[in-house]
Amino acid sequence: MSNPSVLGWPTFHHAKLTPRTAPLGTVAKPLPLIIDSDPGLDDALAIACAVVRPEINLLAVTSVGGNADVHHCTENALRLLHLYGADDVPVAEGAVGPLTGPLERATEVHGEGGLGNTKLPKAPRTVEPEGAVALMARLLEASPEPVAIAPVGPLTNIALLIRSYPHLSPKISHICLMGGSVGEGNSSASAEFNIYADPTAAEIVFNSGLPITMIGLDVTHHATLDRSILDRLKTLPGASAKTAAELLKFSFDRSAAWGQGEKMAIHDAVAVLHFAIPDLVGVARYHVVVDATQGPARGRTIGDANPYRLKRDKLEPNCDVGLTIDSQRFADIMVDIYSKLP
Ligand code: RIB
Ligand code: CA
Repeated sequence: MSNPSVLGWPTFHHAKLTPRTAPLGTVAKPLPLIIDSDPGLDDALAIACAVVRPEINLLAVTSVGGNADVHHCTENALRLLHLYGADDVPVAEGAVGPLTGPLERATEVHGEGGLGNTKLPKAPRTVEPEGAVALMARLLEASPEPVAIAPVGPLTNIALLIRSYPHLSPKISHICLMGGSVGEGNSSASAEFNIYADPTAAEIVFNSGLPITMIGLDVTHHATLDRSILDRLKTLPGASAKTAAELLKFSFDRSAAWGQGEKMAIHDAVAVLHFAIPDLVGVARYHVVVDATQGPARGRTIGDANPYRLKRDKLEPNCDVGLTIDSQRFADIMVDIYSKLP
């Protein structure tokens, strides 16, 4: 693994990498997966990964308000799946906003409609009449095997699923969420957006006892693409690659206008790819608590892997935390994904 990530920071405990606990899909036995998402520029690439990778069997995409208003996110999910030739994947709409606290949006990053200035063709498929939580419950109930969930937006729907259908928790094989950080945040110095947008929901999820991998900014900030990807996407024939280039260019232009360089962290794709690629992300066991108070650390994921403190406080690690990522491979993986889409 090539990145120092948080392991290089002087105040951070040098957690030793540990074997992953997240299940791995294989071509022979694809992993059943539900994506809960707020599409969303990087969400669009994450959904593409799930549609293309043969190690994954995408059962559904559920929407949640986050990057944009939930009705935009729902429509974007339908239209992205149509673009990717995946009209067979159902979409259901979830929570408008958080369980408690103010409505947070990231439209300044993703555009008012959630996909920059891109207008995708309408999908023939319409949203499922049942809501996101009901659809997730139905799929968990019906699945002959436990189902993995990749939440890549605020965790409101997941918290509602856990609280509304506690008997279905054994049918959740793993939650690999994009969110949090053991380092700094992005929405605030303390908190990453998906957690910041609904800290109460995140607290419910992290305290649920379910098997969790936290793919936070510690690794996703090393899963970046730059403008060179645009030329590579332009060589690909499909409308999906053209759309990806549009979405990425929107993000590069925004970042440049803000003087923040010309790279985009493809946060959400890492959470999905972790279920398909065994050696992309290195993890360590942490005890993570969420600050769900309304103070300056609201939404912070406080991760502790220090053996002395954990023993002293009688705490057991409750999740894998992504600490390292093989970022050199990332652009090639994304180009390969889009080379296989219509
Ligand atoms: O902080 C990054 C996360 O917030 C990503 O999921 C991105 O899509 C936004 O929702
Ligand atoms: Ca997202």
